[in-house]
Amino acid sequence: MTGSYNRFRFLPDGAKSVWFAVFRRIDMPTYSELVKPELLSQPVYQPGKPIDYVARELGLDPATIVKLASNENPLGASPRAIAAGKAAMDEVHLYPDGGCYDLKRALADSLGMDAAQIIVGNGSNEVLELLGHAFIEKGDEVVMGQGAFIVYKLVTLLFGGTPVEVPTKDRRHDLRAMAAAVTDRTKLVFLASPDNPSGAANSQEEIQELIDALPEHVVFVLDEAYSEYLDEAPDFREMIAAGRKIFCTRTFSKIYGLAGLRIGYGYGDAELVSLLNRAREPFNANAIAQAAAVAALGDQAFVEHCRAANAVGLTQLQSQFESLEIEYIPSYANFVTANVGDGGAAFEAMQRDGVITRPLAPYGMAEWIRISVGTESQNERALASLTSFLSRQGG
Ligand SMILES: Cc1ncc(COP(=O)(O)O)c(C=O)c1O
Repeated sequence: MTGSYNRFRFLPDGAKSVWFAVFRRIDMPTYSELVKPELLSQPVYQPGKPIDYVARELGLDPATIVKLASNENPLGASPRAIAAGKAAMDEVHLYPDGGCYDLKRALADSLGMDAAQIIVGNGSNEVLELLGHAFIEKGDEVVMGQGAFIVYKLVTLLFGGTPVEVPTKDRRHDLRAMAAAVTDRTKLVFLASPDNPSGAANSQEEIQELIDALPEHVVFVLDEAYSEYLDEAPDFREMIAAGRKIFCTRTFSKIYGLAGLRIGYGYGDAELVSLLNRAREPFNANAIAQAAAVAALGDQAFVEHCRAANAVGLTQLQSQFESLEIEYIPSYANFVTANVGDGGAAFEAMQRDGVITRPLAPYGMAEWIRISVGTESQNERALASLTSFLSRQGG
């Protein structure tokens, strides 16, 4: 490449780069020709739109915008977590603890497990990706429900695997059909409970039946990103201890309100965790996130407060959907998914009113939007905007 560039050395610098830009098309491969072919068809994750982006796009004051698009905690984070994060800034010239000693200790205590059974990630998203690094090769199959959290599919495709998407039944994942979809090529089975974007949850018995139906060469991954919103979350720690191939992921992004810090974790068998650690980059969890997460975990009163507030917000949204006669999926998480006729149009209209939601066309649900539970007044804004959209549609 240098050689090619040097062919233009007789030209002045500006002209050199113009000639180079023209000629390299002729005799040099492009980056797209050089990368792994799978990457060219790799879908791209579409995040909820950030407030500042929407403000710029629509000429709105950011302070007036309500973001109910990414299932964040409208009450923020525990003041203790924020203080711990700020204090950690004083040492920010030092690398973080790559082994996350304090956080793993705190998590081990709260889970009643060994620290060696826990892996910390840059969000639980990274932990999900580590599973791809560790297990998925070209041609491997990964079973998931249709319309499941899109990252399962992205991770599978990224490592050359084949996502096997099992049709849902009454808008819930069909766990028996998922078990039946397992073949000799299956490496992983992903299930989120509560599920995103449906908000539906599975019972301990339902999930256990699925696990019991899985052959020994399959690792079952239970994504517990929203499990803290459940009154009583299914618990597979005994089965993990008994040697069943189960791995669970959790996050500090949701009820703990630390989404911006990117910190999550997974727990399972110590051998599996040590293998996942081989694929992990050395300092994947930053120091501020680690400190804030330890403090957040220690403030369970805040978590309890958020859980209670979320239950009130869910009722506020769902009862209004009922009055409006809108079909919705009863939610066990911090968001509700509703059929508004035209999800894309509702999203655009509500965004113009300064309310950001999530249209669900990428999940094959073009008529639906997902609305995160906000504060009471944020929910009121969302409901008012939705009501006016629906009345315009009706008339
Ligand atoms: C089901 C589910 N799993 C995992 C994640 C990833 O969360 P994070 O990477 O912030 O921990 C999300 C985020 O929305 C989610 O909805």
